[in-house]
Amino acid sequence: MYSEKVMDHFQNPRNVGEIENASGVGTVGNAKCGDIMRIYLDIDDDGVIRDCKFKTFGCGAAVATSSMATELVKGKTIQEALQVTNKAVMEALDGLPPVKVHCSLLAEEAIHAALWDYAEKHGIKIEGLKKPKADIHDGEEEEEY
Ligand code: FES
Repeated sequence: MYSEKVMDHFQNPRNVGEIENASGVGTVGNAKCGDIMRIYLDIDDDGVIRDCKFKTFGCGAAVATSSMATELVKGKTIQEALQVTNKAVMEALDGLPPVKVHCSLLAEEAIHAALWDYAEKHGIKIEGLKKPKADIHDGEEEEEY
């Protein structure tokens, strides 16, 4: 069901932890499953992401996607990091089962939330960055189960 890469990143997640005095911190939840992800970014004066760490209270797919997402944004500029979409993370993991695709949205949104926090702290505007949601289902119609 899961690719080898997903299993690897789930069992040996990279960049787990916190960054003290992080340049930006973003937390996003998924109210439907109750999972939460927090991303910490350390951004240097040139706008390059020097370090990235995460904490995820969530399912295996959420852990694997956060791990891969942190690997992908490290060393990138802010603009390049914005291109790290959930699709890019899933591709890097050789795919996710369809029912787990929503888990990868947490990583994308948490990175955006951390960049938003960084921009607010520095009084700057990041081109192309929209105000992130606190919950990935915000603004959706209520679904019946
Ligand atoms: Fe909640 Fe995967 S089931 S993030």
